[in-house]
Amino acid sequence: MTTDEITDLLTGAYIDELETVMNYQTNAIVLDGIHAEEVKTSLEEDIQEELDHARMLGERLKQLDESPPGSESFEANQHSLQPPEDTTDVQAVIEGVLEAEEDAIETYRSLIEAATEANDPVTEDVAVTILADEEAHRTEFRGFQKEFPMD
Ligand SMILES: [Fe+2]
Ligand SMILES: [Fe+2]
Repeated sequence: MTTDEITDLLTGAYIDELETVMNYQTNAIVLDGIHAEEVKTSLEEDIQEELDHARMLGERLKQLDESPPGSESFEANQHSLQPPEDTTDVQAVIEGVLEAEEDAIETYRSLIEAATEANDPVTEDVAVTILADEEAHRTEFRGFQKEFPMD
């Protein structure tokens, strides 16, 4: 059985995924320099996966007789993922990605918990599938972070 908590989490996650697509795309375009290439390629790959996450969440909302939101409910949250003023500041983007992935991991853990409680194994399965991708993204960017040690 579904609950308001589940549909709220699905709706919020859907919006977050689309904001992530926008910011990863922008940063994949704007970054410059020799250190940027691998990060840009990785962002390009992740964009497709984040878009797929949004699709899975939207389809689950539809199955629950709800609609995924349009852009009028959009509220921007990813302040640390705005394109850096210095386009060679790859480290700023890496930190922003790690923050976004941590937020996503937290959201999907909450969704798993809410779905388990509500005995909604289909939503739980969607959340587990997406959570695995987000943890893989985090691992990838933790690897990039090691190349750019903090002062
Ligand atoms: Fe995602
Ligand atoms: Fe991700």
